[in-house]
Amino acid sequence: MDDEKTLQEELCLPILLADRVLKSAHEAESSKLECADLAHQVDRLSQMLRSAVRIAAASPSLYERPVRRIAADVAKNLDRALTLVRKCKHSGVLRQVFSITTAADFRKVSSLLESSIGDMKWLLSVFESDGANLSLPPIASNDPILSWVWSYIATIQMGQLRDRVEAASSLVSLARDNDRNKKIIVDEGGVTPLLKLLKEGSSAEAQIAAANALFHIATDQERVRTVIELNGIPMIVSVLGDSPMRVQAAVVRLVAEMAELDPIAQVDFARENVTRPLVSLLAMDTVLDEPKPQPGKPSIHSLVINKELVGKGANSSTRLGSFSSNHYHSDGSSRGGHYRKDREREVESPEVKLNLKVGCAEALWKLCRACLLNSRKVTETKGLICLAKIVHKEVGELQLNCLMTVMEIAAVAESNPELRRSAFKPNSPAAKAVVDQLMRVIQEEGNPDLQIPAIKAIGSLARTFAARETRIVGPLVARLGNVNVDVATEAAIALGKFVCLENFNRVEHSKTIIEFNGVPSLMRLLKATDRTNELAHLHCLELLCYLALHVGNSKALEQAQVLSTLEGELVLLWHKIQI
Ligand SMILES: *[C@@H]1O[C@H](CO)[C@@H](O)[C@H](O)[C@H]1NC(C)=O
Ligand SMILES: *[C@@H]1O[C@H](CO)[C@@H](O)[C@H](O)[C@H]1NC(C)=O
Repeated sequence: MDDEKTLQEELCLPILLADRVLKSAHEAESSKLECADLAHQVDRLSQMLRSAVRIAAASPSLYERPVRRIAADVAKNLDRALTLVRKCKHSGVLRQVFSITTAADFRKVSSLLESSIGDMKWLLSVFESDGANLSLPPIASNDPILSWVWSYIATIQMGQLRDRVEAASSLVSLARDNDRNKKIIVDEGGVTPLLKLLKEGSSAEAQIAAANALFHIATDQERVRTVIELNGIPMIVSVLGDSPMRVQAAVVRLVAEMAELDPIAQVDFARENVTRPLVSLLAMDTVLDEPKPQPGKPSIHSLVINKELVGKGANSSTRLGSFSSNHYHSDGSSRGGHYRKDREREVESPEVKLNLKVGCAEALWKLCRACLLNSRKVTETKGLICLAKIVHKEVGELQLNCLMTVMEIAAVAESNPELRRSAFKPNSPAAKAVVDQLMRVIQEEGNPDLQIPAIKAIGSLARTFAARETRIVGPLVARLGNVNVDVATEAAIALGKFVCLENFNRVEHSKTIIEFNGVPSLMRLLKATDRTNELAHLHCLELLCYLALHVGNSKALEQAQVLSTLEGELVLLWHKIQI
């Protein structure tokens, strides 16, 4: 309701009330002295209200929240003053009765008006000093946070650049304290001026401060929605496309967070093609020519890492920068920032670059999770080959985030035949490069944090592999015997997807599993998970059932007494149900 009135209207009501109080005070027959004192206060208020009207008319970007709140409060207090002063028109006998109660009333109203004067004084000083006043207005005496939030937001909206940066950082500190502060910042209209600060690009520091503040505010779905409703996503994507790397690094963190918290953000980012700048930043030092398939050999080479070039002079890295830009923006996604970006690339430190790439990979991971639109867009650009190359060459968080992205895309492809066919055709070089890397991780990396997503991804792609694909099934079978039960269980789950009823090649895959001696490992895993890990145990049982179903007459199953084990499990289950 409040928002429908203009600011002028909001301020006119108390001015009108003040005029009436002054008139009635003038006409008072009793308590003349008290009325005169009140009139004095009201006159002061009235002048301040008129100053506020002038300021509001002169500044189109005025921060309105506190004006509206304070104007409404001033109007309420003036209304009480009016009621009181009007009673003083009475004279004679009534006057005697009346005066007994009035002394206290006058004191009360006078103190309310004094508060209003304090609020107006604060308001005018905030506007005159472009926001910077951290003293408490009386209206916020019960909630100092509110007045801080007001003055920070006023500064971000109306202040000088340096103060705006500082105010945005102050909002970060407030937001970090607790969720209530975050909510106040959003309720008091903080998101819009922050987005504006981010978009204007007045300075890298300002943009970073704005992106950080938004990152610390948009930490739940509701607040992410607010950013979306205020048209934040196109602004964020456009800043990401063309800014210095330090700014981009702050922005990708925000993208990742919003995508993680809200499926609508995922879709809206997809509509803005956010995956395009993300993939191209991730690939900035990587040569993405698709490798020529070399039968029988792992097919990934020719990755150029800028690390190797640092220190070899600006020339080579400039060339590289221009190369990848041209290479990458030939689809018309550039906005004329190449020259600037290439020059900045020369001076950006390897840490800044690495940090940016880690952030891009995380954003892609969160964007692709359970989201067909983004997964498809990543596979349609050269995203898959880029991810494969980084999984190959890099280590640490960057490698892990890329692997997680591959895992999420594979998971989407598992339930979407069209994506499976388009992105993971067995003869596509990109798909082959990804699978090669997944298998390399499964076989060569000792770290379960890497092995598990790789195994999950291969499981998701189970239906893309040909019958007798021993290169894939063999190493998975070997992982059934892994010392780490979680890795072994993931292998069982993945193999289950090779032999389940939906898999056309289930019988052939079952035979391969048995040939690679999977049954004894599986029986051991079944025992190891008995009672300790019910879900893992069930996955093992499931795999065992499929093997028995598809190749029931196998010697390996017979030797391992699989059927009697299954029978025993069944008895246990019945027993459990009856309890
Ligand atoms: C801040 O506002 C108070 C009134 O609330 C005023 O007395 C003080 O002078 C102001 N400070 C600045 C720096 O403008
Ligand atoms: C996103 O990309 C598609 C296809 O390349 C294009 O048609 C569309 O206009 C782009 N959307 C935006 C918002 O740039």
